[in-house]
Amino acid sequence: MPSSGNVQHQIEQLRSELNRHNRLYYTEAAPVISDREYDALYRQLDQLEREHPEFASPDSPTQRVGGEAISAFQQLPHRLPMLSLDNTYSEAEVREFYARVARLAGGGLPEMVVEPKVDGVAISLVYENGKLIAAVTRGDGNVGDDVTHNVRTIRSIPVKLDGSHSGLMEIRGEIFMPKKAFLAMNEKRRELGEAEFANPRNSAAGSLKQLDPGITAKRNLGGVFYGLGYSEGYPDFSTHVEVLDTLAEWGLPTNPRRWLADSTDALWAAIEELGAVRHDFQFDIDGAVLKLNAMAQRRQLGFTSKSPRWAMAYKYEAEQAETLLREISVQVGRTGVLTPVAELEPVFVAGSTVSRATLHNEDEVRRKDIRIGDRVLVEKAGDVIPAVVAVLTEKRTGAERVFEMPTACPSCGSEVFREEDQVAVRCLNAACPAQLQRRIEHFAARKAMDIDGLGEAIVEQLIKADLVHTVADLYTLKIDKVAALERMAEKSAGNLIASISASRTRPLQRLLFGIGIHGVGESAARELAAHFKSMDQLMAASEEEIAEIHTIGPVMAASIRQYFDGESNRAIIEALRTHGLQFDVEQSTDANSAAFADTTWVITGSLSQPREEIAELIRARGGRVAGSVSAKTTYVLAGEEAGSKLAKAEKLGVKVLDETEFRGMLG
Ligand code: IVH
Repeated sequence: MPSSGNVQHQIEQLRSELNRHNRLYYTEAAPVISDREYDALYRQLDQLEREHPEFASPDSPTQRVGGEAISAFQQLPHRLPMLSLDNTYSEAEVREFYARVARLAGGGLPEMVVEPKVDGVAISLVYENGKLIAAVTRGDGNVGDDVTHNVRTIRSIPVKLDGSHSGLMEIRGEIFMPKKAFLAMNEKRRELGEAEFANPRNSAAGSLKQLDPGITAKRNLGGVFYGLGYSEGYPDFSTHVEVLDTLAEWGLPTNPRRWLADSTDALWAAIEELGAVRHDFQFDIDGAVLKLNAMAQRRQLGFTSKSPRWAMAYKYEAEQAETLLREISVQVGRTGVLTPVAELEPVFVAGSTVSRATLHNEDEVRRKDIRIGDRVLVEKAGDVIPAVVAVLTEKRTGAERVFEMPTACPSCGSEVFREEDQVAVRCLNAACPAQLQRRIEHFAARKAMDIDGLGEAIVEQLIKADLVHTVADLYTLKIDKVAALERMAEKSAGNLIASISASRTRPLQRLLFGIGIHGVGESAARELAAHFKSMDQLMAASEEEIAEIHTIGPVMAASIRQYFDGESNRAIIEALRTHGLQFDVEQSTDANSAAFADTTWVITGSLSQPREEIAELIRARGGRVAGSVSAKTTYVLAGEEAGSKLAKAEKLGVKVLDETEFRGMLG
């Protein structure tokens, strides 16, 4: 019989082991053990917990996930069903719709509201006495998944509504992943060799279905709310506009634009206007929703079994273009991952000319059966990244060629490897010139060391001329050698060396981002610098100590540790130290920074310096920077032409500072 201390230890080990595998499986999509092995560990823990109920814990993986139904969420009923909308792609049907609504509403020209149709995941928030008690996905319309734990992590969704409340209210809207966050997330996944998400909608859905809310929290989700479900204890609203304004007053995010229309032509004009600006929103918009404004008229029109008669969605065509796929080239990334890229005959789509599109990995090329010489359809995934969405196989001539992933790196010629369970193929040669090129470009990037004048072409020449082998070599460059490069003169060489030299003083967080540790993006670098305060303390930290930072997961912690354990990396770090780079966080202990401790800022309007730089000034002093104004905001820094955020701050009574006042605070 093992001692109870032993059993407890064994239980804890199993829990942490299972938690690790859950993360690897669900989040990293990179399991390292078979399902069978997982089940065996799980059963072992389950049995021990049954035999020793004194060590039971609600945090145990056995409590969070149930056997094979590991991803199942609890089901919750909607008090009023979540319906869908009738769709159309046709102007004529929009005009018919308005005529029908006008007729059913008893003649006249009823007022319609036109608003963006957010391409996200439908959600119903339940507030009781102003407190968020549940968040439920649409499911089948009557019953959905309880994702409350995850929705609570979305910062723009209040857990408590502003104002005084008594009663119950279902609030309907959409959860989305901002296009920018989607791009950043995929970039990170690409670096780690993980499968990328197809579009922001899928990523939002995947993020809401996480068992661990810590993961959802890192996904930067947002919400937009546009309607009500069941309510109890609240007076009736008379118009949709009143509903929207009230939701905003309660602190819920609503659509930033809406149009009122009281004629067919005005309705169509609004749809076209929204269509023209739809790519400018932070979320994907796949249509316009047309809704009757007056609630009394809505009641008159009622519902069909599936949708309201008083509303309709006009869907914009996804902008697609046909073009020729001339070639598939292979790019080598900063971490050695080989990516097939479609070289296209340039074509105009969704606002810009596209001539290249990533094909992600060889599995993707095979799955879509994309061949060199194919006629293809190109679209922008999430409005931003060009993607080949289909092959026009009927246009094949027989001259098309099947793509083969090279077995040697196209840059350095060394053999490439594909790890089991991973889609990525990698070149493992640390001295590969293509990797070095990408690493230096990343190091010099604006968000990293911000080295002016160190563009792609110059980096290529520096590598070719054997002047740099690591990022640290940049700081050893001599003016005569640089001036001898093509299209370089004494003066431009001098400028380049001066700007490289000036980058020595960049703060530690930028350096940590710039050295390019797998998976460490800007925000992780900032957290690492803030937590460890110096390069040396970070280098001395164990994987567990690094993972103690709550936004840093075990995979990233392992990757950081692995980086600093690498001999060549350590040599680079030591060289950077010799060249006088900032290895410590400057401790700002002056009185001016005390004023920033524990404050949350929202920056809006146009200011004399880019917003991101101002944000850095705030963060360097211990403040936080948020994207939207809420009751939790301490200050709004408002520049010229500040708009809705300023208005909201004034409404909520949040202190507003102009730039002069802000500079005064900085000291
Ligand atoms: S109103 C009775 N407004 O689109 C249904 N829906 O295809 C009332 N959606 O189920 C829905 N943006 O999930 C409404 N501004 C908006 C919307 C919106 C996105 C979603 C919603 C709806 C689906 C219908």
